Amino acid sequence: MFGFQKVSFFLLLLPFVIAAPASEVEKRQGIDTSTHCGQWDVVTAGPYSLLLDQWGASGASSGSDCANLISLSGSTIAWKTSWTWVGGNGVKSYTNMQLNQGLNKQLSAIGSMFSTWRWSQSTSGTIVANVAYDLFTSSSPGGSNVNEIMIWLANFNAGPISFVYNSDGTPRPVASNVSLASHSWNVYSGSNGANNVYTFIPTSGSITSFSGDLNLFLKYLTANQGVSSSQYLKTAQAGTEATSGTATLTTSAYSLVIS
Ligand SMILES: *[C@@H]1O[C@H](CO)[C@@H](O)[C@H](O)[C@H]1NC(C)=O
Repeated sequence: MFGFQKVSFFLLLLPFVIAAPASEVEKRQGIDTSTHCGQWDVVTAGPYSLLLDQWGASGASSGSDCANLISLSGSTIAWKTSWTWVGGNGVKSYTNMQLNQGLNKQLSAIGSMFSTWRWSQSTSGTIVANVAYDLFTSSSPGGSNVNEIMIWLANFNAGPISFVYNSDGTPRPVASNVSLASHSWNVYSGSNGANNVYTFIPTSGSITSFSGDLNLFLKYLTANQGVSSSQYLKTAQAGTEATSGTATLTTSAYSLVIS
């Protein structure tokens, strides 16, 4: 009996003993972990692309933004960005992890969008930034953007786009204390000039470890805010909109799977 247990324990371990070196090789050789700082640099790994996306950089008087992949294991990726921006009022960069699989489905045809995002941030002085998912929908597969849906996990002195403001200048939500994916959110509605923008912001603090189904947010918008379920999900990104200051955002684990 004792001998049999020992043998079967060894057999159970065997796949791990064989598998471990292969995944280590994949981590070292399969992805580009070098640092990229170009305005539109793209680093693709597995189902994702790290996008530098420094679309507002010309609004800064000085600054830079660099990023690198850290590891990829299955659908879980780790990455880091360090940025510093001085001057200007608008967003300078949205360094983000874009998913390249499972897109261009109608919202009504999406079963789930499970995501995990664990991150930490170090800053120097005051920053204006967020940590946020950014989704876009279109009226046809790959068509032009109609709706932008942002799910912020943290707000550092930034503000959502809003049609309505309170007398003290703060944006007024169209819905408050909405419970989705185990957290409470305020929902804002506005326009960026080209698209409707819906923004979910946590009612208290930052969410540094998110795990939930992003489809719940889309279902909330189709049920309550007039977003058409015949829209197609065009883009799904997760990163940091950086306006000013100095920060390093490290994502230790990120995954998004659309099914
Ligand atoms: C949201 O919840 C907070 C805390 O419980 C409460 O103070 C506030 O009145 C609520 N807002 C609305 C609009 O219900």
